[in-house]
Amino acid sequence: MPGTVHVIAHPLVQHKLTLMRSKETSTSTFRNLLSEISMLLAYEVCRDMPTTLTDIETPIAKMRAPMLDGKKIVIISILRAGNGLLDGMLKIVPSARVGHIGLYRDHKTLQAVEYFYKVPESMGDRDAIVVDPMLATGNSAVAAISRIKASGPKSVKFVCLLACPEGIRAFHDAHPDVPVYTAAVDERLNEKSYIVPGLGDAGDRLFGTK
Ligand code: URA
Repeated sequence: MPGTVHVIAHPLVQHKLTLMRSKETSTSTFRNLLSEISMLLAYEVCRDMPTTLTDIETPIAKMRAPMLDGKKIVIISILRAGNGLLDGMLKIVPSARVGHIGLYRDHKTLQAVEYFYKVPESMGDRDAIVVDPMLATGNSAVAAISRIKASGPKSVKFVCLLACPEGIRAFHDAHPDVPVYTAAVDERLNEKSYIVPGLGDAGDRLFGTK
C-alpha cells in the first residue's frame, strides 16, 4: 500500500527553504528559518484535526465555537535535529505535549539503537506528530515510529523539512499508514547518505557543531 506524502509547496515555505539550503546561511539564521518553517508545516499538519464546539461569550453574544484540543497532541522530536522543529510547532499548538526519542546507529549491526525515550503518559488518547528535518535513508524515522506505535497513540504523522525518494520508499514500506509532510522531495541520496542537493547536515547547521 503506497503511503501519503504531502509536499507543502507554499511560496513562503519554499523561499525559507531556499535560504536554509544556501551554504552562506549562518547558524543563527538557519535556526530561525527552521523555526519559522516549522510553524507553517504545523499549520498544514493540523488541517484535518478535529475540533469540538465549546460555549463561549463574545462581548456581543453567546455562541458555540470550535476549539482544538491541543493537549491531545504530542509532538515527538527525533534527537537531535528534530528539536529544531519543536519551538515553531509549539508556537502554533502551545498546549501540545512533547516527547523525545534518541537513536544511534550501531556501526557493527547498522541497526538503530535507542538511547532515550520519554513521551507523555496515556499515549492512547493522543495524536502523535513525529518530527525530524531530514528523511534520508529513513532508518531512524522507521525505528522511531515503530517504537512510538508500540506506545499506542491514536494516530501518527511524520513531519520533515526535506525528503528523498529512497527515504520515502523505506519509510512507507515499513509504515504505509503514516503520512509524511515535507517542504520538498529532493533528487536522491548520495553514497554518504546525504540528501542531494539537500542542505548538508541539519544537526550541525542547526547547532553550529561543524
Ligand atoms: N541527515 C542530514 O542532516 N542531512 C542529510 O542530507 C541526510 C541526513
